[in-house]
Amino acid sequence: MSHTIDIEKIRADFPILSRKVNGHPLVYLDNAATSQTPKVVIDAIVEYYESYNANIHRGVHSLSQEATDAYEEARETLRAHFNAAKKEEIIFTSGTTHGINLVASGFASVLTAKDEVIVSALEHHSNIVPWQMLCEKTGATLKVIPMTESGELDLEAYEELLSENTKLVFVNHVSNALGTVNNIEKIITKAHQKGAAVLIDGAQAAPHIKADVQALDVDFYVVSGHKMCGPTGVGVLYGKEDWLNKLPPYQGGGEMIDQVTFEKTTYAGLPHKFEAGTPNICGGIAFGKAIDYLNEIGFDHIAAYEHELLTYATEQLLALGDLKIYGTSSEKTAVISFNFEGIHPYDIGTIIDKLGIAVRTGHHCAQPIMDFYKIPGTVRASFSFYNTKEEIDAFVQAVKRAKIMLS
Ligand code: ALA
Repeated sequence: MSHTIDIEKIRADFPILSRKVNGHPLVYLDNAATSQTPKVVIDAIVEYYESYNANIHRGVHSLSQEATDAYEEARETLRAHFNAAKKEEIIFTSGTTHGINLVASGFASVLTAKDEVIVSALEHHSNIVPWQMLCEKTGATLKVIPMTESGELDLEAYEELLSENTKLVFVNHVSNALGTVNNIEKIITKAHQKGAAVLIDGAQAAPHIKADVQALDVDFYVVSGHKMCGPTGVGVLYGKEDWLNKLPPYQGGGEMIDQVTFEKTTYAGLPHKFEAGTPNICGGIAFGKAIDYLNEIGFDHIAAYEHELLTYATEQLLALGDLKIYGTSSEKTAVISFNFEGIHPYDIGTIIDKLGIAVRTGHHCAQPIMDFYKIPGTVRASFSFYNTKEEIDAFVQAVKRAKIMLS
């Protein structure tokens, strides 16, 4: 295996990886649902609550100042990571779903009934439903970029869908159900040629691919901390300053105002305009630590190692026979969605859990993809840089056993 990753050292960073499940060593292959948390991030959470828990941007006292500084330092870490031009363009959210809903809600004041918005067939429900709600509210039309049998987007069809009426395109960078890496560079360029803005759901890409929002020239990019070795309940919306200034606030409350009177309220500048209420302070700080941790390993190393895991696992699974893999794009993150003819994915998942193996089964919050393949769901194994070839062997043996039991 690759020498770019010191796998023993990395595994020692994750306390949970040494536990047993149902009497077997845990083999955690549900990383697309949530990633595990390294000790350095857990320590940051403990340190926050043990030594400087306080509300931010409000207090003159020392604890509040320390917490504010740490939170704003995390914002700067995220800015640098995604190469945003300004810190003000980094909005802390509760996660990807929050970020998408914030933008969709703002576009209610931008769109009219003659406008069109474009989604893709490969989306998670969180990048479909908020836009359907927006279209119901505004009368705008929702169009869908079709997918192909290999689980890729039909970009010729996309170009035909684009028109002078297209105002917004929203597509994921990586499909959560299939692992397909979409050609977002092309999607963004073509949308901009028609004057449309683009939101990229980066939730599944961000743990594996370091996006440069300026190089991409993307208008909005949204991610979740918990997919990137950070805690749950925190994420980031990157938005171009012009767009964030144009969109109205998502929620009203403390911290997002400039002046409040009963006659009129004026709003705070960026990023505070979109950060009403007490945020997930500890989560934001810990998210920053997770980003530092991933960058120390290096995204090139992560991608190369995970690619080796993907290739190995794909070969081993296919060798079992009678197995269909959904999503066969040459550009994939380390995700394998599969089924055996006549066996329900849930049954495979339940049996291999008894052997300590964690995978996700079902529609993966992407029902249109399952409808396309005419299946109820898949077994999805999603790998991370802390997984090993030995774990893949255990997984494949467990799947083989389950298949024999269920055939
Ligand atoms: N969106 C997460 C997944 O794909 C929960 O599993």
